[in-house]
Amino acid sequence: MLAVLESLRRRAVAEGLPVYLVGGPVRDALLHVPVKDLDFVLEGAAPALAGELANELGGFLTVHPRFGTATVEVQGDRVDIVTARKEAYPFPGSLPEVSPSSLEADLARRDFSINAMALPLSVDEPLVIDFHGGVRDLEDQTIRTLHPGSFTDDPTRMLRAVRYQQRLGFELAESTAAELKGALAGGHVSAVTGDRWRQELQRIFEEDRAAGMLLQAIDLGVLPAIHPALSDGQHLMRLAEESGVASEPANHLAALAASLSPADGDSASRRLNLPGPWARVVRDTIAVRGILAEITPSPAGHPVQPSTVCRLLNGMDLHVITAMTRFWPDPQVVGQLEKYLAEWMQITPELTGGDLLAMGVPRGPGLGEALRELAAAKQDGLAATVEAERDLVKQIISRGS
Ligand code: CTP
Repeated sequence: MLAVLESLRRRAVAEGLPVYLVGGPVRDALLHVPVKDLDFVLEGAAPALAGELANELGGFLTVHPRFGTATVEVQGDRVDIVTARKEAYPFPGSLPEVSPSSLEADLARRDFSINAMALPLSVDEPLVIDFHGGVRDLEDQTIRTLHPGSFTDDPTRMLRAVRYQQRLGFELAESTAAELKGALAGGHVSAVTGDRWRQELQRIFEEDRAAGMLLQAIDLGVLPAIHPALSDGQHLMRLAEESGVASEPANHLAALAASLSPADGDSASRRLNLPGPWARVVRDTIAVRGILAEITPSPAGHPVQPSTVCRLLNGMDLHVITAMTRFWPDPQVVGQLEKYLAEWMQITPELTGGDLLAMGVPRGPGLGEALRELAAAKQDGLAATVEAERDLVKQIISRGS
């Protein structure tokens, strides 16, 4: 990324190129937190400049002509260069119509003041360009929109607001909170496609404080406006209590799904146009929840055989089972799920299908059944040695004849 920055700076100084570092990296540099990505704006055609950079640095170029944006990928790092543009939203929640414009207009189209600052690359000791009070809002720890119609234009900014607020420990400005409520009441959330909501959710799932962000999105009414069933935060609350534990995106999706009915799970998956593996997390979370009573010891203390747990959980998404160990409130359930993951599911017979055939088990469905019976016996501690396995196979053969 630094190679791109240096090359751009050289060009900016030598040719007076009006190119600026913008948005997230300026915000993060001012906050003294690590800068993740570099985003640049050019007052001029960004794809052409990006092409020259890709050539110079041996990088890979991707151009999105509709928005006049380009990405240069150098040794696995991606840098975005966009043509300064202004945006008009033909209707709330639509994708904007864009036309080339000035840096000033480009900053004015952005979501929050803290994301609407720029740094010119063409001067040696640049001053932050800040038309919207971003520096002041960083100091005041405030998330503030640039204009009252911001959430109506782009309702996905509701989730972005929550994401920045929790990530940075900031507050929403009073006016911004009121605008968010107004845009919610105006029903604009439903105008946005599932794909766009899912992308914002995905960005939340990748954050350290994802659970807190989702809880707040529920409290504010944003998630319930996307789909009414996404309104229960009880499992997220437990994830939010965990600190210092790296969390998997699937944990949060499972925590959201764990109190849904199967029908709500399906319709929420459709609303968010979830891709196959995500939809499976939702489905399997609901399915596992449905069998929890069968895999836990009864109140009278009757144990459940490990083979029963294996049979019921076999084939369920392991991300889901792992996720449920993190947020399910009943320690007995968690204990069974943990034992399944760490021990029981790994137990397989030492004898193979070939061994069973050699011992005289006929080829066909009976062979699979015999292997499963063997595995179940082993899981329940009834066939600890190969000899014990062989004895069991002999019993199966004599039973079958
Ligand atoms: N942006 C916006 N409205 C959106 C999405 C993005 O105004 N719905 C603007 C913001 O100014 C943001 C910039 O586009 O700073 C780049 O977007 P993104 O990559 O999502 O944000 P970053 O700040 O670069 O990254 P992050 O928020 O994760 O730190």
